Amino acid sequence: MIISIINHKGGVGKTTTTINLGKALSLEDKKVLLVDLDPQANLSQCAGIDSPDFNTFHVLCEDIPLPIKTLDKNFDIIPADLDLSEAELRLQTDVNGYFRLKKRLKEVQAKYDYILIDCPPSLSILPLNALIASDRVIIAAQAEFLAVKGLQTIFDLIEKLKENLNTDLSILGMLITQLNNTIFRKDVADSIRKIYGGQVFETVIKQNITLAEATASGKDIFTYDKSSQGAKDYQALAKEVLTIFK
Ligand SMILES: Nc1ncnc2c1ncn2[C@@H]1O[C@H](COP(=O)(O)OP(=O)(O)OP(=O)(O)O)[C@@H](O)[C@H]1O
Ligand SMILES: [Mg+2]
Repeated sequence: MIISIINHKGGVGKTTTTINLGKALSLEDKKVLLVDLDPQANLSQCAGIDSPDFNTFHVLCEDIPLPIKTLDKNFDIIPADLDLSEAELRLQTDVNGYFRLKKRLKEVQAKYDYILIDCPPSLSILPLNALIASDRVIIAAQAEFLAVKGLQTIFDLIEKLKENLNTDLSILGMLITQLNNTIFRKDVADSIRKIYGGQVFETVIKQNITLAEATASGKDIFTYDKSSQGAKDYQALAKEVLTIFK
């Protein structure tokens, strides 16, 4: 199962979700591969990897073996580096540019239960590669008014992709992130549920500073502090995802 974590809006929790949902699934005995498809390389940094020699740029633009690094039991990553931004230009001038990631992941797909792709905050050819390679999409959405307004763009894009380029694509769920106790954010979260109903995960990721601390120290939340609220939320999300696929 290949799942993209997307939203063209920045800072909504895509990377935090990719690493921590991935780790939570690995702790449930699933074999997980993370793919960093963001030139900012935040996912790789969260996993404690800096400036990898071989990374997603080479995966997309060269025919080298996939540079998979093992982080923990059942938990692997293909890291990124800043040079991934150059891949965008190269892919745009390649007739098969939209299908590169799909083609490359086929090589290892059978070895993993879940492949999670962390997308950059854009709708460029990189996230399009991710969406074309994916079976499902998780839309990370902050409980903020402006964040909600942009969501329709993603739904429209997914509908377009389903017509032709990836007919099997579907939404696994919309994930409300960084929820806190302010009435405003609760109201926004409620209105997201009203509009998108059953497409929203039951699990909500609360605002939890420990998640940000784990990120900053290059660790997943379970390694950093497994008793934190963030760890509980991402464990609950993993269980919900596993129930969906049962
Ligand atoms: N639930 C949370 N509680 C507190 N802080 C969080 C939470 N989720 C994410 N953060 C922090 O918010 C910031 C943005 O999160 P993250 O990097 O996951 O977003 P993103 O959508 O991947 O951003 P970008 O679009 O730039 O890739 C990070 O500093 C992260 O540590
Ligand atoms: Mg990110």
